[in-house]
Amino acid sequence: ELGTYPHYMIKEINEQPQVMRKIIKEYQDEHGELKIDKNIITQLNEADRLYVIAAGTSYHAGLIGKEYFEKWAGVPTEVHVASEFVYNTPLLSEKPLFIFISQSGETADSRAVLVDIKEKGYKSLTITNVPGSTLSREADETLILHAGPEIAVASTKAYVAQIAVLAITAAVTARELNKVSDMNLMSELAKVTTAITTVIEDAPKIEEIVTGYLETARNSFFIGRAMDYYVGLEGALKLKEISYIQAEGFAGGELKHGTIALIEEGTPVFALSTQEKVDLNIRSNAQEVKARGANVCVVAMEGLEQQGDTYVIPKVDDMLTPLVSVVVYQLISYYAALHRGNDVDKPRNLAKSVTVE
Ligand code: M6R
Repeated sequence: ELGTYPHYMIKEINEQPQVMRKIIKEYQDEHGELKIDKNIITQLNEADRLYVIAAGTSYHAGLIGKEYFEKWAGVPTEVHVASEFVYNTPLLSEKPLFIFISQSGETADSRAVLVDIKEKGYKSLTITNVPGSTLSREADETLILHAGPEIAVASTKAYVAQIAVLAITAAVTARELNKVSDMNLMSELAKVTTAITTVIEDAPKIEEIVTGYLETARNSFFIGRAMDYYVGLEGALKLKEISYIQAEGFAGGELKHGTIALIEEGTPVFALSTQEKVDLNIRSNAQEVKARGANVCVVAMEGLEQQGDTYVIPKVDDMLTPLVSVVVYQLISYYAALHRGNDVDKPRNLAKSVTVE
């Protein structure tokens, strides 16, 4: 199954353009319009608030999904870590809809929430890669990710698929609520697919980033603002999971509130800038850590790039940049783990699906 690839993780990273194309095809009707099952759209339109429940990488995808539901469809959305929800339950709205995001559909922490909210009589939708999985069977409705089997413990193509499916779902919700959109999501997703391919083709360049920034590092930081903050959280999780380098993702503006104390000579800091409205802010955060000795790697989007940036991702719509920028972080993590001689696909202490609470 691995074919010519040395690891499942790199195979799955490379499959991402194909996954995007599959999703575009599956979620399109015969007139080329975005399509989501009618029952699901009815539930989304009737809900006064969405509660997204997920763990790990799927939680990070949920954070991006919130932006789509709120900005495009105007539906208030909360995103919760599954293992906390049962104990730190927020005050629920009158007509909540619960959305479970899970690659495997088997995560026990998420299932515990599903069991609980079903008992209370609330509606649920599962977004999963595995048809027939527990979370799919037990929820009222299911949306499939169409990413194909994901074998590597580090989730890559499922994250991209989750964001794409969330974007399509939010866009159809917006359309049905008669919210006007100034972008054609289908064609923008096609551009994203091309951009992902470009990043994948740059793998040798990205491997050099690892040589320049992470070869001897024991800790690292991923900063960003707005959507880039959420991608930083995912970048940090990916890196620590397989390279065992301590990594922390946080909002650029929080630096001065504590974390900056950890910056020393040579500390690697990855700063992402794909959002014009916060470009100057994140660049000044990057300056702050650089002035304290950090080894700063700026990843910027075309159009926002400046001299000295380490890597430039192709330009895509502002709201869709996570689909492309995350691929840079996936590759950085992959090569960092590889250079350390780690078992890339089966990192220590981790299982592909976490079926205990
Ligand atoms: O199957 P799920 O999406 O529910 O899994 C959730 C997390 O366990 C999973 O995303 C985990 O964080 C990954 N190993 C991250 O790469």
